[in-house]
Amino acid sequence: MLNIDGQIKILLIEDEEYDVRRVKNTIRPFEDKIKINEVVSNGKAALEILNNRRGEFDLVIMDFQIAGGLMGEELIVKIKEIDSSLQIIVITKMTINLSDYDFASNLLKAGAYWYCTKYPGDIEEFIYQPTDFVISIFNAYQKRLLERESSKSHHKLRISVENILKQREIIGESPVMLKLKEAILKYSQNNVTTLVRGASGTGKELVAYNIHYKSERKFENFIVINCGSIPNELVESELFGYEKGSFTGADKRKPGLFEVANKGTIFLDEVTELPFSAQVKLLRVIQDGEIEKIGRTEKIRVDVRIIAATNRNIEEEVRHKNFREDLYYRLNVLPIFVPELKQRKLDIPLFVDYFLTQESREMGKDKPLINSEAMSFLIHYGWPGNVRELKNIVQRILFIDEEIITEAHVKMAVSLFDSPLIIESKEVFSLQNDGRIIPLREIEKEFRAKYFTFVRNNSESDTEAAKKLGLAPPNYYRMAKELGLK
Ligand SMILES: Nc1ncnc2c1ncn2[C@@H]1O[C@H](COP(=O)(O)OP(=O)(O)OP(=O)(O)O)[C@@H](O)[C@H]1O
Ligand SMILES: [Mg+2]
Repeated sequence: MLNIDGQIKILLIEDEEYDVRRVKNTIRPFEDKIKINEVVSNGKAALEILNNRRGEFDLVIMDFQIAGGLMGEELIVKIKEIDSSLQIIVITKMTINLSDYDFASNLLKAGAYWYCTKYPGDIEEFIYQPTDFVISIFNAYQKRLLERESSKSHHKLRISVENILKQREIIGESPVMLKLKEAILKYSQNNVTTLVRGASGTGKELVAYNIHYKSERKFENFIVINCGSIPNELVESELFGYEKGSFTGADKRKPGLFEVANKGTIFLDEVTELPFSAQVKLLRVIQDGEIEKIGRTEKIRVDVRIIAATNRNIEEEVRHKNFREDLYYRLNVLPIFVPELKQRKLDIPLFVDYFLTQESREMGKDKPLINSEAMSFLIHYGWPGNVRELKNIVQRILFIDEEIITEAHVKMAVSLFDSPLIIESKEVFSLQNDGRIIPLREIEKEFRAKYFTFVRNNSESDTEAAKKLGLAPPNYYRMAKELGLK
């Protein structure tokens, strides 16, 4: 207990010289460890000193009955308001035969660490049994250190959550986005299972992050699981874990991600990709808050908030029996729909500016200017890849390395993005535009242009491209011209 670094610094509030002397005398053998830095005779003076000399004192020893009116619980509360980790020891006049427990317990409730009654006045040497008094001071000091440590780490956690939220800020002021942000705030205030829906690249993962880090669970784990990227045979052991020896190769116990996420949030991205058996187990977690671990008969209770996401038509998956209907209803309690970028054109200039600022800083480049034709092109472009595509195109624009970005530059960046997309994505075309079905002739032309560009980008020469397309060179050139490609 004497293993204390530095000195414990005390403010003594005591208005009787006699008692000040008794206190000092009681702690004298520990002078090198405990120091009375200051003595004041009333509560007001004490608060002033604690306010003006913050961090200088560890403990307050206060007489209960002091002059000046400000005393007792009221004073304790005010001291704690200045620094809640300051520890307070109250000493009161000895009143033999008094058993007023409420009196003492109210002082502790107000925030005092300890309470003791002074020795009778005829004991000149000590204020209280010296060992007990000193030990209480040391213990109070330990509590002070612990509380300071925990408030410091709490502060650090808060700062790191603030940073995460800053990095994952949701950009957008359009009406649909304001609504979305409102929903995020509302949904972060409860623990209900949430299903985030929307096309690829609209920001579903971003929404999930924001719900978690704005919720009361923000200091706990946020676990992201891409259900489509775990091999089917591993899904259950990844999610729910297994016990040692439950199958050959299980040489130690493995906690599942649901256990890791306990008290926090789990984000099940691409939830429709979950195999059927895992869907059953997931349903049970949602219904009973229990997980079934492989090789274990008793279930384990977990408290996990579930956010799921999909860019699929999940109702269709249910109809085709790829996804359990009961699970669908359990997940879809609070649906959030993230709109496509073309439904929030108002936000496009905001996005362009945001990503230009962010990416140019990251690439160590000056932020270029976008001229109005270029911006207008960006606003009217269809954005099949949504915000993700916009971010990529901004990166490409930065690679172009011009101070002023024109429509031609933007078109170049867009076509670069478009062509390789043909092989990567099944959804090259939006079949409708703002709800309007695109006429066959138009979509045919769009397809030809895209396919043409794709083949050309993947050929060494025009002759090679023409050959790949099965066209005689003159026809190839004529077609390119018709499509506005040359
Ligand atoms: N409103 C927004 N504000 C800022 N950045 C955004 C916004 N929406 C999306 N982004 C950014 O766009 C990219 C794609 O977003 P995200 O990964 O959340 O999309 P997603 O809907 O999960 O896509 P997918 O269905 O393909 O998984 C990310 O880099 C994300 O930070
Ligand atoms: Mg995603």
